[in-house]
Amino acid sequence: MRLSISCLFASFACAVLADAVGRVSTRGVTPQKREVPAGYVTTSGAGFELDGEPFYFVGTNAFWLPLLITEDDVDATFQTMAGAGIKVARTWAFNAINATQLPDVLSTNLTYYQVWNNSDWTLNEGPQGLQRLDYVVSAAEKYGIRLILTFGYGGMELYIYHILGNHATHDEFYTNPTIIASYQSYAQSIVERYKSSSAVFAWELMNEARCAGDSLPSGPNCVPGSETLTTWYQLQSDFVRSLDPYHMITTGGEGQFYWAVPDTYWYNGTLVSDFNFNGEAGEDFEASLSLPNIDFGTYHLYPQTWYPELDYPGSNFSVEDWGLGWIEAHANTAAYVGKPLLIEEFGVTGLDNKSSIYPVWYNSPSGIQPWQFGELNLTEDGGNRLIQYTDQIYQGASPNDGFTFYINQTSVWDIFTAAAAVQSYRSG
Ligand SMILES: *[C@@H]1O[C@H](CO)[C@@H](O)[C@H](O)[C@H]1NC(C)=O
Ligand SMILES: *[C@@H]1O[C@H](CO)[C@@H](O)[C@H](O)[C@H]1NC(C)=O
Ligand SMILES: *[C@@H]1O[C@H](CO)[C@@H](O)[C@H](O)[C@H]1NC(C)=O
Ligand SMILES: *[C@@H]1O[C@H](CO)[C@@H](O)[C@H](O)[C@H]1NC(C)=O
Ligand SMILES: *[C@@H]1O[C@H](CO)[C@@H](O)[C@H](O)[C@H]1NC(C)=O
Ligand SMILES: *[C@@H]1O[C@H](CO)[C@@H](O)[C@H](O)[C@H]1NC(C)=O
Ligand SMILES: *[C@@H]1O[C@H](CO)[C@@H](O)[C@H](O)[C@H]1NC(C)=O
Ligand SMILES: *[C@@H]1O[C@H](CO)[C@@H](O)[C@H](O)[C@H]1NC(C)=O
Repeated sequence: MRLSISCLFASFACAVLADAVGRVSTRGVTPQKREVPAGYVTTSGAGFELDGEPFYFVGTNAFWLPLLITEDDVDATFQTMAGAGIKVARTWAFNAINATQLPDVLSTNLTYYQVWNNSDWTLNEGPQGLQRLDYVVSAAEKYGIRLILTFGYGGMELYIYHILGNHATHDEFYTNPTIIASYQSYAQSIVERYKSSSAVFAWELMNEARCAGDSLPSGPNCVPGSETLTTWYQLQSDFVRSLDPYHMITTGGEGQFYWAVPDTYWYNGTLVSDFNFNGEAGEDFEASLSLPNIDFGTYHLYPQTWYPELDYPGSNFSVEDWGLGWIEAHANTAAYVGKPLLIEEFGVTGLDNKSSIYPVWYNSPSGIQPWQFGELNLTEDGGNRLIQYTDQIYQGASPNDGFTFYINQTSVWDIFTAAAAVQSYRSG
């Protein structure tokens, strides 16, 4: 039923089926099941599994958890999550600064793990560094919540700037051997530190990697079809697998497709080629999900931000319908490849939009993870928290970026606690 509805509204959902059927299948080979220690979540065909039972979940995003200064605040946050039935939390296992920022960072008590100086960085294993992430991992164990730990951010400019200087192109991040070695060395520090913990749900190679640049220009290695990013995902997922045979690995990608016939939509009398389908940003969702050591698919969903023209006169897509089509396209591709799928980040602004759209969107996959979790009444007051993924300073320890929702916003909160109960019931 839902498929035919979204086919009416979103032609791409239908197109993926046609695409899948019309080709010689190179995908769909059933991934080999991995034997894992008790208590580790793993995959089983197109679903997740924990100790032999199906594992469906509502998760959440709380990138700021390891930035909290007090253990009480970390505990309080996990306690609220556990009370809501949340089983998985995604957080950043990175925050790098450069040596010139150190005095400032020491005075503000900001959590930092890497200090760049010239073309190399040093690891901070101290109380203002990885010991805070250690506490987050141990508290996750205590509250029965599993973590998706992300090794880096979409910007990636720090590696490029420090190793190659500011004349490099963004995609050199994926191909330069020194940068690759530097990234791998950091990823290895994290994997080795936590790989014996059942609280790790999955390692995530990067948040929202794009081959195309945001601030630095794109280079010639980054044109649709070059598969530069897919090659990088393969290299890094194989590398992480070589360090840890058990935990799942995923990309952290936004889920953009590279389709021979990209989807289009009408806006104000013009047919627009949709950048999420034409390979422009460098991701190829189907190809990366098909890699042997990518265990499940991730995708993100922010139609208001991506397409300000949706919901405007002259567009025949609404935010809600575009989202449904995006959800369906990923569900179809994941089913075709035969791996589980997590809608890893999604959001709309405004409580009314959230409470009307989320129930329409959430109702599908193995894993549902809205962006983002808000915790009230932290002992730590306000404070600025610099996290270098957008190079923005967010107000407060549990910041409200417009997508955040809190326990007292019951019209939204209750949607997810109800969904968590359903997922738990499905989990057997
Ligand atoms: C969107 O509008 C265009 C132009 O009016 C029309 O040709 C197209 O069929 C519409 N698409 C959908 C999915 O409604
Ligand atoms: C910095 O954080 C630590 C906990 O990681 C805490 O013990 C210390 O008191 C804090 N320092 C300041 C100046 O807030
Ligand atoms: C260090 O970071 C600051 C703030 O982002 C920047 O202004 C400065 O240029 C950087 N310095 C080096 C050597 O990277
Ligand atoms: C950065 O490196 C330079 C030269 O190698 C050195 O003189 C300086 O002390 C270093 N700075 C920090 C904060 O480590
Ligand atoms: C819509 O198209 C008309 C005619 O081409 C143009 O004048 C108008 O500026 C466009 N509106 C928007 C919001 O793009
Ligand atoms: C609700 O969504 C619409 C359409 O995207 C948007 O224009 C509006 O600003 C949103 N409301 C709030 C309060 O953010
Ligand atoms: C936060 O603190 C306020 C004032 O102390 C209290 O009224 C409220 O119930 C608390 N909220 C939560 C979620 O604990
Ligand atoms: C939720 O609590 C926060 C902090 O106490 C408060 O600022 C906000 O107005 C409350 N929201 C609702 C909907 O009660």
